[in-house]
Amino acid sequence: MTQIVNVVLGSRSYAIHLGEGLLPQLGVLMAQVLRGRRVLLVTDNHVSAILGETVTVSLRGAGFAVSRSVVPAGEASKCGEQLFALYEAAKQAGLDRSGIVVALGGGVVGDLAGYLAASWLRGIAFVQVPTTLLAMVDSSVGGKTGINLPSGKNLVGAFHQPALVLADLDAFTTLPPRETRAGLAEVVKYGAIRDAQLFQTLEEHTAVFSRPWKDLDAAGRALFGNVIARCCAIKAEVVAGDEREESGLRAILNFGHTLGHAIENASGYGRILHGEAVAVGMVAAVRLSARLTGLPEADVARLEKLLVALGLPVRAPGLAWTDLRAAMKLDKKSEAGVPRFVLLKQLGESLSGCAVPEDVLEAIARDLGT
Ligand SMILES: NC(=O)c1ccc[n+]([C@@H]2O[C@H](COP(=O)([O-])OP(=O)(O)OC[C@H]3O[C@@H](n4cnc5c(N)ncnc54)[C@H](O)[C@@H]3O)[C@@H](O)[C@H]2O)c1
Ligand SMILES: [Zn+2]
Repeated sequence: MTQIVNVVLGSRSYAIHLGEGLLPQLGVLMAQVLRGRRVLLVTDNHVSAILGETVTVSLRGAGFAVSRSVVPAGEASKCGEQLFALYEAAKQAGLDRSGIVVALGGGVVGDLAGYLAASWLRGIAFVQVPTTLLAMVDSSVGGKTGINLPSGKNLVGAFHQPALVLADLDAFTTLPPRETRAGLAEVVKYGAIRDAQLFQTLEEHTAVFSRPWKDLDAAGRALFGNVIARCCAIKAEVVAGDEREESGLRAILNFGHTLGHAIENASGYGRILHGEAVAVGMVAAVRLSARLTGLPEADVARLEKLLVALGLPVRAPGLAWTDLRAAMKLDKKSEAGVPRFVLLKQLGESLSGCAVPEDVLEAIARDLGT
């Protein structure tokens, strides 16, 4: 069954279509909301080989002229060199102001292609077709686009909302299990910051969420789909309330990310996946919350137990506190070098912008790093 989640942002509103077997409908759905007919399809080499043809056939069938640009899979492609190659491809494809960029892939392709769409001719239409769990519940929704510089992640970027998001759950058939698990960390995040019921659903059905997609029955897939839709709805609600991260609401999405980003940075990007680092970061955040905002110890234990049941790490052995602290000070979201944390008052209720005493943080980070 297809579910539709609406992201309500005035003239920039759009729908997220979510369900099994949706990819062949992409062309028809795009034709309903966009008037242009020239498409640059941006994807990576893994996803292109698996889904590129289906998407191209769907788009051509609906009357779109399609050119495909394939970047190498991996974070390294979110860079200026690939971006400039895509500008050339956009020129070659004849993308004028009515042109459309379609991102087919995970968050890497989404962020890169999104920034291409945001900056080409000062901004053209953009469609997200996320194929990882992380991209479905997080990066494809909300309009943040960008690339990395050698000196730091996501340093160049723009807010540019898509005109449509289409998430076909069949993508999980080929997604590596480790990538699915990493995406589940963000799913847990939504429950922890905003929806205690969602958190409980995850706890009650860890067997469903830790089983390969192909082994799930119809009920398991439906449950998984509902959970993804709920995450999209939470993100949509938060983004609608604070599109450009000005009021502090959107910052709650950063739960687990202050230490998580530092872990990714200190371990050298790529060794630990983003979601894995966020899992450990969430453990740190709930331990801080128990000390500082009165989160019951029982809830700290619930979060750790859920992460373990989902196959996610709850510690990051071997990371030095000095490296983590240095990385946190450089974090984009630090204020005057003081890292800010999202803490929980209780499961489902969060507070952003919290400064924490360094000795408390150090003790917790050292414990998680041993
Ligand atoms: N814009 C935002 O709001 C936002 C939010 C969170 C993360 N991000 C960004 O997202 C990126 C991470 O995204 P990701 O975790 O999706 O990683 P990714 O895009 O690198 O994809 C992970 C791997 O899975 C492969 N893959 C993707 N879909 C597949 C499928 N269906 N079958 C088989 N293989 C498949 C990819 O080729 C890649 O090797 C980071 O750059 C991060 O900064 C952005
Ligand atoms: Zn994240």
